[in-house]
Amino acid sequence: MASLLITGASGGLGPAVVARLLRDGWSLSVAVHNAHSVEKLQSQFSGSALQIHQVDITRRDQVRRWVQSSHEIYGLVHLAGGFRGASQLSDAQEADFEFLFGLHARATYYLLAEVLPILKQKGEGAIVTISARTAIRPGKEAALYAASKAAELTLTLAAAEEGRPFQVRANCIVPAVIRTPANMQGASEKEIAKWTDPQDIAELIAFLVSDRAKSITGTIFPMYGGLSA
Ligand SMILES: NC(=O)c1ccc[n+]([C@@H]2O[C@H](COP(=O)([O-])OP(=O)(O)OC[C@H]3O[C@@H](n4cnc5c(N)ncnc54)[C@H](OP(=O)(O)O)[C@@H]3O)[C@@H](O)[C@H]2O)c1
Repeated sequence: MASLLITGASGGLGPAVVARLLRDGWSLSVAVHNAHSVEKLQSQFSGSALQIHQVDITRRDQVRRWVQSSHEIYGLVHLAGGFRGASQLSDAQEADFEFLFGLHARATYYLLAEVLPILKQKGEGAIVTISARTAIRPGKEAALYAASKAAELTLTLAAAEEGRPFQVRANCIVPAVIRTPANMQGASEKEIAKWTDPQDIAELIAFLVSDRAKSITGTIFPMYGGLSA
């Protein structure tokens, strides 16, 4: 079977997505940032159709090398992200801007710019990205995170329009809070019950990259669980 490129596989959401896509028979070319994450995924998914690469997705040369070394690419599942600087705009730090726009806006641009020409040439393919509710409904806190995730969402919708004449689809999933191990530390059962299960996001991704979703592109999927829109 053709392969999917996947980022963020070592994060809180990633393993559920990797396990679900492997179950559908996909080969996965995985980009993680830290050497430790390479080892973690290797032991977690040993013997699976998984090729793990150490890639800094904020570096164009590294993204290009990874994409070009991957074979039979059918699509991209872009989960990588990060949170930093919970501050209001008036207190936000320049370094937080660089980090967040580097990781969400610049990296998404690099990934889409490297992958789209390959998929357009093939005349098929699927891209799924993950933004965040705050990108659509920003509050006064975490303004830079919200804006950088909004850039990710907009780039995905632009990719959908570029890909549309070539049967290349792109969709964006928008969770509020995910039940990741990091979030669950110290949270109450009542809070956790309202959050989105990684398995549910994995299920939607498996659908979106499949042929069953062949008419779906340029769509935003809010997955807020029990939290308000
Ligand atoms: N968690 C939530 O409640 C929540 C809510 C809304 C939206 N989201 C979005 O959902 C996605 C997944 O969230 P998560 O909680 O799973 O994130 P996470 O646990 O923080 O994981 C981050 C992932 O991104 C990778 N990464 C970070 N910097 C990178 C770089 N420069 N190059 C390559 N990979 C890099 C990390 O790789 P290493 O392990 O190698 O560092 C890791 O796999 C993110 O896009 C996030 O913004 C999350």
